[in-house]
This record gives sequence, structure tokens and C-alpha cells, in this order.
Amino acid sequence: MSKADIGLIGLAVMGENLVLNMECHGFTVAVYNRTTSKVDNFINGRAKGKNIIGSHSLEELVANLKKPRKVMLMVKAGKPVDDFIEALIPLMEEGDIIIDGGNSNFQDTIRRTKYVEEKGLLFIGTGVSGGEEGALKGPSIMPGGSPKAWEHVKPIFQSIAAKVEDGSPCCDWVGENGAGHFVKMVHNGIEYGDMQLICETYQIMKDLLGLPYEEMHQIFKEWNKGELESYLVEITRDILAYKDADEQPLVEKILDAAGQKGTGKWTVIASMEAGIPLTLIGEAVYARSLSALKEERVEASKIISGPKPKFEGDKKQFIDDLKHALYASKLISYAQGFMLMREAAKEFGWKLNYGGIALMWRGGCIIRSAFLGKIKEAFDKNPSLSNLLLDPFFKEKVESSQESWRRVVTTAISNGIWVPALSTALNFFDGYRQERLPANLLQAQRDYFGAHTYERVDKPRGEFFHTNWTGHGGTTSSTTYNV
Ligand code: 2AM
Repeated sequence: MSKADIGLIGLAVMGENLVLNMECHGFTVAVYNRTTSKVDNFINGRAKGKNIIGSHSLEELVANLKKPRKVMLMVKAGKPVDDFIEALIPLMEEGDIIIDGGNSNFQDTIRRTKYVEEKGLLFIGTGVSGGEEGALKGPSIMPGGSPKAWEHVKPIFQSIAAKVEDGSPCCDWVGENGAGHFVKMVHNGIEYGDMQLICETYQIMKDLLGLPYEEMHQIFKEWNKGELESYLVEITRDILAYKDADEQPLVEKILDAAGQKGTGKWTVIASMEAGIPLTLIGEAVYARSLSALKEERVEASKIISGPKPKFEGDKKQFIDDLKHALYASKLISYAQGFMLMREAAKEFGWKLNYGGIALMWRGGCIIRSAFLGKIKEAFDKNPSLSNLLLDPFFKEKVESSQESWRRVVTTAISNGIWVPALSTALNFFDGYRQERLPANLLQAQRDYFGAHTYERVDKPRGEFFHTNWTGHGGTTSSTTYNV
């Protein structure tokens, strides 16, 4: 008798925790891992006495599953996913479902959905966010792929996902083929941005205001009680209070060279492809790259000088300014992220539900926050909202934060404090709200040196002109094209 509701391959911590979460919600799970000793360790350890069935081969795993069979991969992204798909296809039947829950690139998921469907099976590529604890207690789950597969995995996914206050699960169908992994990728990009913004406010507090750690801890504690309430502010609060064995803040002893696994970079690459100015996440990725050039920076710091930070003003007021600057910058980052999703949806033919995406990110995942509840409200009120900055609530918020925001960015810059994310957010805001940008001159330059042509404000769009700027050279224009 086949008794398992779902099979899971890949017993690293995320995989194990998802299995335990599913079992805890009443599902029987069959498990397999390439290194089969991990199956035995799990079955005799954390899975002991639970409705979890160990398998030592893929054949055994598949034989243990109820139909339509569902096998979820929680293995390293890349070739291992393709290898398992290849090995599973001959063992499964029409209508069975292969699910990839790893951090796969959405382009791979588009390719795999097509491939698996051609073999008569169904495929789901799903983002799973929330880290190890989320996987165990309720992650945010962002599934996309073959629409027909959704009704079969929905009861499992929605019951193990995080829930918001009203009980709604942080999991819903995202869209066809790579849509789920795309949305997960943007989530990770936004996570890079949120983290960088918090780091910049910390640096300003420390180097410009000279605040002791205890005070910074208290500020983040306060912030977490209001509109900035979020998982990342909460953990920052705790990190700032954490003492090393010698009673000094541990964070002071951590080397300032950031690592990255690539999902932020993917998001920026996707934004370049789509032609969407995702400036904040871009700065956040480059900020990590600059931090990683530690030796070079140490050398440069001995040679190049800048202003010595000196704060003259009302500290209390400035801390309040920082809060507004952080909120407004965060809003810019999310507005840019949703702009990217909107453009990708057009390009790949996805029907994305933006309020639904905000709800999926509202709980369970790393960027969970009260703020996402407000984004959900904005899209609920107006599902075709073209930009978050145009929502009446956010428009008012960003306008009322402006003075503080400008004070923070200009003060930081005049004191030589590095604020790439806070400043790009403000710059984007000042560009986005302009009716006229200096791109008229840019077009003139392009036409001057390359005969790229331009459109005129006094003629309809789509009519192109070329000027012989120097009086010599021809009047031939190059064909119009956009890259
Ligand atoms: P392992 O325990 O046999 O190493 C996270 O690394 C998970 O991905 C683990 O379950 C790991 O299996 C699996 N994994 C990593 N690389 C793999 C590969 N090339 N083939 C199969 N499984 C792999």
C-alpha cells in the first residue's frame, strides 16, 4: 500500500524541517537523500516515531507515494535538480508532479516546466523563504509552474505555510512556469535592499551621532513597535544587544566583508534585461561587493581623506529623521521591485496578483513586516495600481517624510558617510516625479555623434528627426533602435 502524501528528496536542514512541518500538519512523508546514511540518521533521530517513511532508492520512494505522486526536491540548485528530474521521469506516470523547492533561477524553471510537461508530468518551481526556522514553523511559499499541479499540492503547501493574523496562508499560486521562482528572486533582492538600508542607518547612528550600542538597541526596539515593525528590524535590535564573552558587542568584532549567494545579483540582471530602474537593489548588491574589497579599502583609507563626521544639531530629531528616511527608502525599493514584477509579467505572460504577493511576503519570510500589510491594502484597493508611490497612503507617507529624508541624506553625504541605498532611493524619487529630465540633451548628444535620431516635444511620439549638428557630414540617420 502506498501511503505517503508526498515524497521529499534532500535531507539538509531545510529539507528535514519541511518534512517535519508537513508531518506535524497530518501528512505522511516519504524521504530520500543521495547519501542514504542521512535517511537512516533522520529516521532514527528527529523523525523517530513520526509518519515519515525512509527510502533508500528513488524506486522505493516513488513506490511509497499516493497518486498523483508528488516529489519535492530540496537539493542544491543547478545540475543536481536536472539530474533528479531525469532520474524521476521514467519512474513516474502521467499527471505525477515534480516540485523544485530550491533557490533555482527562474529561467531554469521555465525550461524545466516545459521539459517535464513534454514528458507528460507536471512541474512546480517554488520559492520557499524563512530560513531553517521558517521551514519548520511556517515558511512563505511561492509556487509557480504547471497550473494543473496546483490543486494537488495546495492543501499541503497552504497548511504548512506561515499564516497572517486573519489566518490567511502566506502561500498562493503565483503563475505559470518560472513565475514562482521569479517572485522569490525579487523577494531576495528586496531583502538585500532592506538589509543595506538598515546597515546605513546603523552606520549613521554609530559614526555620525556617536551613539553607544545600548542606545542603538533601544532605538531599533522602538522602531519595531511601530510602522517599521519587521523581522529584519527585530533581529537587528537583538544583534545590537548581543555581547561577546568579554561583554563587548559581538557585531563590532565581525569582519566587514559581506558574502552573497547570487539571488540579489540575478534580480539586478533581470532588471537590466527588463529595462527597469531597480536602483536600490543594485546599490545593495554593489555595496556588498565594495565591502568585500576589504584589503583595498584598508589601503585606500590610509591614502585618501574625507570629512571627519561631526554632528551639530538635535540628535533626538535626527533619530526621528532616520526613521522616516528608512521608511521612505524602503518604499522606493518595494515600488521598484513591483515595477520589475509588472514588466516581467508582461514579458513572460504571467498574470501576477500583486496583493497576493504582498500577502505571501507578509509572514514567514525574511522580509516579513507590517509594511507589507499596507502594500497588500494598496493593491486590494486598486489591483491595477501602476506604482506604489501613486497609492494615496504611500504618496502621503513619502511626501511627509521628505524633509527628514533629505536631511538624513545631505547630512550623511556632507559628513562623508557612505549611504548608497538611502541616497539612490531619494535620487530615484526625485527622478520619477519629474515631468522633464535632461534626457533631451542626452538624445541630442546621441544624435550628434551617432545619428541616433530624436523625437520632438512639438511633434507626435514615434516621429524621429536627425539634425546635421556640425554642418558637415551627411544627413543620413542610423536606424532607430533601443537596447
Ligand atoms: P547529500 O546529503 O548527499 O550531499 C543540500 O546540499 C542537499 O542537496 C543535500 O541533500 C545533498 O545531498 C543534495 N545534493 C547536493 N549536491 C547533489 C548532487 N550533485 N546530487 C544529488 N544530491 C545533491
